[in-house]
Amino acid sequence: MTGLFIAFEGGDACGKTTQARRISELLGAVFTREPGGTEVGESLRELLLDAETPLGFRTEALLMAASRAQLVEEVIRPNLESELHVVSDRFLASSIVYQGYATGLPLNEVRDLSIFATNGLLPDLTILIDLPVDLAMRRRTEMPDRFESEASAFHEKVREGYLELAETAPEKWVVIDGSGSLEQVSSRVDDAIMNHLKLVLGNSSS
Ligand code: TMP
Repeated sequence: MTGLFIAFEGGDACGKTTQARRISELLGAVFTREPGGTEVGESLRELLLDAETPLGFRTEALLMAASRAQLVEEVIRPNLESELHVVSDRFLASSIVYQGYATGLPLNEVRDLSIFATNGLLPDLTILIDLPVDLAMRRRTEMPDRFESEASAFHEKVREGYLELAETAPEKWVVIDGSGSLEQVSSRVDDAIMNHLKLVLGNSSS
């Protein structure tokens, strides 16, 4: 038996961090985020998000993978093995979508790099908070970071990439409509997680 590993994904300003933190508290899970979540990961996050630091696309992909490798080794795997649930604000799909679909690096190479980084670990469930790009852009309040500074065409590719990934593995992904009030989105997320848990528990007892 190991804990359950849930990742929250979505475009910038879709509301996933609020939901990931809320669900983590509800489940009594360990909460973490990417890039970041460890000492080295948080240093890499600063570099990665700083719009003023020049970074090649491959360097960006490698640093995302390095942050992920450390997070899996130091935080995610040990907690799952201790039967604690882990909720991560972003994981491997972020790299496939941002560095692959949106930036244009080959999807299979980005995926293989990430699988190397996680030593094969994947989330049990990924919750995608889906929001039209124009709505998400209107929600932003802070100075844009490296990725938020990208044009809306980039963010449209991010959204399409996520929806395509979710479509190819419906048993591992749930797509949540991120529009509406916080209460509405929260109740959609709660229902999705309850349904998934019922499915998992049903299958394990049959
Ligand atoms: P956020 O955690 O505040 O959403 O910001 C992280 C940013 O980093 C976000 O714009 C997505 C981007 N990102 C990638 O491009 N690739 C990755 O693998 C991860 C984890 C994040």
